[in-house]
Amino acid sequence: MKSVKIGEIKINNPVVLSPMAGISSLPFRIICNGMGAGYCPTELVSARSIRFNGIDKSLRYMRISPEEEGITAIQLFGSEPDDFTAAVETIMDTPVLKEVSIIDINMGCPVPKVVKTGSGSALMEDPVRAADIVRACKKAVSGLNRNVPVTVKTRTGFNAEDKGKPDFAKALADAGCDMLCVHGRTRPQMYHGESSNEAIASMREAVRDYGMPFFANGDICDVPSAKRMFEQTDCDGIMIGRAARGNPWIFEQVTAGLEGREMPGLPDENERKLMLLRELEGRMKYLPEDVAVREFRSVMPYYVKGLAGSARLKVRLVGANGIDEVKEILELG
Ligand SMILES: Cc1cc2nc3c(=O)[nH]c(=O)nc-3n(C[C@H](O)[C@H](O)[C@H](O)COP(=O)(O)O)c2cc1C
Repeated sequence: MKSVKIGEIKINNPVVLSPMAGISSLPFRIICNGMGAGYCPTELVSARSIRFNGIDKSLRYMRISPEEEGITAIQLFGSEPDDFTAAVETIMDTPVLKEVSIIDINMGCPVPKVVKTGSGSALMEDPVRAADIVRACKKAVSGLNRNVPVTVKTRTGFNAEDKGKPDFAKALADAGCDMLCVHGRTRPQMYHGESSNEAIASMREAVRDYGMPFFANGDICDVPSAKRMFEQTDCDGIMIGRAARGNPWIFEQVTAGLEGREMPGLPDENERKLMLLRELEGRMKYLPEDVAVREFRSVMPYYVKGLAGSARLKVRLVGANGIDEVKEILELG
């Protein structure tokens, strides 16, 4: 794959994990990195909460490990430029977090709780504010003696009839955004219906002359859909979200396919179960066992999808209370 530069950061493989709340845990991100993902951003974290409640409350969602991950990215959401300034300054003043490679801004979240505060996808309706937020983040990192790029992840529209937001993409590029990633759905689509590569392409086209790297996202689940995304949008890189849940192998599969190499074999039943366990053990390094297992309940079914007797396994896994019970259900010693 052709590497991509985001600011001064070189992304060797522009096949990236899309941020997902509840899914993008540190151990999962480390696993995806190991499978070749170019980098793996954290899930969205509230800039306002960091500003007014301090870093401790949000820390667990933005935990990064530069040593194990290589390139790291923290995603923030919010609607007030001053909140972002404060949040970025706090991050840059916190051990480990201050080593982060990239600050990403969420301008795509469709969840009503987020949208009604003017954050996430609501920013698509207010390009002036969105640009101010990019500038605020750029300014907050500019005092550092290293280059921390500021990126944005957004959608193709706020309203159902939107077919891409070229002017919005331009406003972000004008504000100095270092990379734009566009998910091919509008806000009302949430995660339903089809992602439109055509709508993504309209935004790509609008910012072509800026030289800003452009990533595309939506419904990539295998090599053909990844190839289509590159061909139809002329993007520099892709992000893969839901298809990676419980399936970190997708990064080595898609990368091999895009490079025309022989595809690595798919994991067998035992490998899938062991990977589930590896993520759970990783979560238990920073969470008490009961909390780690409870939070992992909604993720475990993805790892056993398609296995013999998976329906029964899923039912039992979502009721598990401890790691020994998980091992017993999976028949792992
Ligand atoms: C459970 C879940 C949580 C998500 N959380 C975030 C998030 O925190 N930040 C973000 O930018 N996008 C988030 N997304 C959107 C994904 O990153 C991605 O844009 C979307 O799922 C489309 O890509 P896909 O078709 O590859 O899944 C989330 C999606 C899902 C399904």
